[in-house]
Amino acid sequence: MYVKKVAVIGAGTMGADIAYTLALTNIPVVLRDVDDSALKRAQEHIQGLFAQRVAKGRLTAPDADQRFARIVFSGDPAALQDVSVAIEAVPEKMALKQKVFQELDRLLPPLAILATNTSALSVTEMARVTSRPERVAGMHFFYPAHMMKLVEIIAGSDTEPDVLKTLSRLSEEIRKIPVVVKECPGFVVNRVLTASMAEVMRFKAEYGYSAQEIDDVIVRHQIAPLGPFTLADALGLDIAWDVAQTLQAAYGDRFDPGPELPQLVAEGHLGVKTGQGFYTHNRS
Ligand SMILES: NC(=O)c1ccc[n+]([C@@H]2O[C@H](COP(=O)([O-])OP(=O)(O)OC[C@H]3O[C@@H](n4cnc5c(N)ncnc54)[C@H](O)[C@@H]3O)[C@@H](O)[C@H]2O)c1
Repeated sequence: MYVKKVAVIGAGTMGADIAYTLALTNIPVVLRDVDDSALKRAQEHIQGLFAQRVAKGRLTAPDADQRFARIVFSGDPAALQDVSVAIEAVPEKMALKQKVFQELDRLLPPLAILATNTSALSVTEMARVTSRPERVAGMHFFYPAHMMKLVEIIAGSDTEPDVLKTLSRLSEEIRKIPVVVKECPGFVVNRVLTASMAEVMRFKAEYGYSAQEIDDVIVRHQIAPLGPFTLADALGLDIAWDVAQTLQAAYGDRFDPGPELPQLVAEGHLGVKTGQGFYTHNRS
């Protein structure tokens, strides 16, 4: 199937980066959010990413402007009429994602593909609230989506092979590496990542180290490019906690991150996006 235009629903941490990645390869994008301030932040973030490419000499300024203009920042449902693929990137809550898919199902052409960027939730459960479960799949990008190459393409129980092929081809077109995976809570990468994040968070609570001490050791010894607490703050602690709960319910206590993560989330400290998480961040 030829992809003419992509809608990205949710202009937060992931949605803004996904929209940029698509526009960079000249694909027309509609970026939607219920929150105008999120759309404005996304616009500034995307302009910043294009400016960085121009500064590095990887794009001319007129070319960057032309690609930026591929993105329509709009809440208007009329902008969705000729969309071939919608990628939802709203918060990690099943009821919300189902509501968004029902709305997209009403507004998009009958053959359009509905894709979810969910980290861990069931694609099949989302698909089955629509009238087109065979046109629904997971398209799971990794943070930061404009840099990370891997995209998990997730087949729900009803997904047609043609949908997986189209999403894999679209991933390649935007210079990503798609891997088709079967559906299970957390798919492949988040099953591994969330288990190790939970372990390191329990270790911190057990031995009383600070986030900085643990991150420093991990980075200094080149175990990972970012320490786990720096990464968690950047990903969003609400998302990390939602995913940990989904995986704990599915696989048991090896996904229990201990008390600090839920406590920070309950206090509204979600990491970089709120200015406070395991670390304090300057939001400007
Ligand atoms: N943060 C990560 O590192 C990461 C990585 C991979 C996948 N994901 C997944 O991507 C999804 C989004 O995560 P995020 O970190 O970008 O979240 P986020 O909180 O940064 O952004 C979510 C955005 O969705 C908007 N939104 C809420 N309801 C909406 C609706 N009905 N219609 C349109 N927009 C709506 C919010 O206003 C917000 O701007 C989640 O499912 C998450 O699990 C996140």
